[in-house]
Amino acid sequence: MKTINTFFIRTYGCQMNENDSEILATQLENRGLKKALVEEKADLLIFNTCSVRDLAERKVLGKIGRMGKAKKRQIIGIAGCMAQSKKEKLLEKFSHVDFLIGTNNISDINKVLDEVLATSTQVSKTEERYETELDYLFAKRDNKLKASVSIIRGCDKFCTYCIVPYTRGREISRPFESILAECQSLAHKGYKEIVLLGQNVNSYGKDFKDQKFLFHDLLYKLDAIKGLERIRFLTSHPVDITLDLMYAIRDLGSVCEYVHFPLQAGSNKILKKMHRIYTKEEYLEKVNLLYKLIPDIALGTDIIVGFPTETDEEFEETYALFKEIKYSQAFIFAYSPRKNTPSYRFTDDVTKEQKGIRLQKMLDLFQTVKNEKNESLKGSIVEVLVEEFNLEKNQLKGKTRQWDKVIFFGDKSLLYSLQKVKITAFNHHTLIGELILSH
Ligand code: SAH
Ligand code: SF4
Ligand code: F3S
Repeated sequence: MKTINTFFIRTYGCQMNENDSEILATQLENRGLKKALVEEKADLLIFNTCSVRDLAERKVLGKIGRMGKAKKRQIIGIAGCMAQSKKEKLLEKFSHVDFLIGTNNISDINKVLDEVLATSTQVSKTEERYETELDYLFAKRDNKLKASVSIIRGCDKFCTYCIVPYTRGREISRPFESILAECQSLAHKGYKEIVLLGQNVNSYGKDFKDQKFLFHDLLYKLDAIKGLERIRFLTSHPVDITLDLMYAIRDLGSVCEYVHFPLQAGSNKILKKMHRIYTKEEYLEKVNLLYKLIPDIALGTDIIVGFPTETDEEFEETYALFKEIKYSQAFIFAYSPRKNTPSYRFTDDVTKEQKGIRLQKMLDLFQTVKNEKNESLKGSIVEVLVEEFNLEKNQLKGKTRQWDKVIFFGDKSLLYSLQKVKITAFNHHTLIGELILSH
């Protein structure tokens, strides 16, 4: 039987995967394994994979393929969304991969590993589990200041282009008591910021049958925890942004003034084809209400360009809406057909070249909008939670409540504290400021 002492997890994809990797690592450490500093030296190597776009898959497939030639003694596992969506096909393709572990089975990692070690055969655990009692294991974190906390798994929205509902399953809200216990324990350990995670956090609680306890109710409860300075949440589906949620952002001291609620496209025809279940008018109404109720709010979005049948005019609608809304964060992608999703059957008729042009146009627009926003912040005073210290430059780095990066000169002793900073300049997406000393 092989012995393993060290492990390395390479994580791709979104924050849900980052969070799952922390949970996997915690269980491996509980078993007595140590994190290896470099991937080549680890006895056990896990790829926690993403399927959201073709490029994300190709990158990791290429890497795993190349490892086959070099594999000597490592145990190799594939976790995450690709393991869940491709299942045994991956084991057939890669005979040097020892195990697969799906998104619903991360709590089984040690069982899987025992089986691999005992039998030396390929092991696969990729169940479609939709029960409410998925093991929520408290993950140990490397970061001492901020922690992500998963509050809802899966997605029920079924946007036509998206693989996530098939890799993460139906929506299941985590019991409130379990979230509260984890957040209290984090606050107790000195954590200042938590990021509530889910594909669609503001669907939280809709699946509870015996109680009425929704996302904004959760925010009120978590805001009451002493020591937590900042609460963030990612991601929100526009349809589930309620007035109650807007009030919670406005009224709760710890809830940060940033909402990431992807528009995806600005043409009603394309939105309908994407099954986003809102019109651009409905979306804009929520934007206007957010700006009115919470004047210092910052908004973030994801955009897909080149969705099947998108014309130049329809793309221009997205462009114009983006410009009007003045997003402060944006993730912009070219459409990538995913097997087994409804839009895979639509003809991918926007050429690669057109997609490339639209992508670049949106990226340029985002930079222009961001520059204008940053320019308007000059002279203002912002609150920064200091996350990093650079000894060589004697420089501190942190984020504002609106999720903007800020750098400024200051002493290492200010690390992990909240500071007031006056914005004086900016460089690309980073604000540059001066510390305002308190008396
Ligand atoms: N649950 C989140 C985001 C999930 S995936 C939400 O709905 O807001 C992150 C982003 O990837 C999506 O918002 C979308 O913009 C992009 N995306 C998903 N599927 C895609 C595809 N097939 N092609 C290109 N981009 C895609
Ligand atoms: Fe995918 Fe849509 Fe669900 Fe987001 S809301 S994860 S884009 S299906
Ligand atoms: Fe990718 Fe899965 Fe996240 S497909 S974006 S890792 S939910």
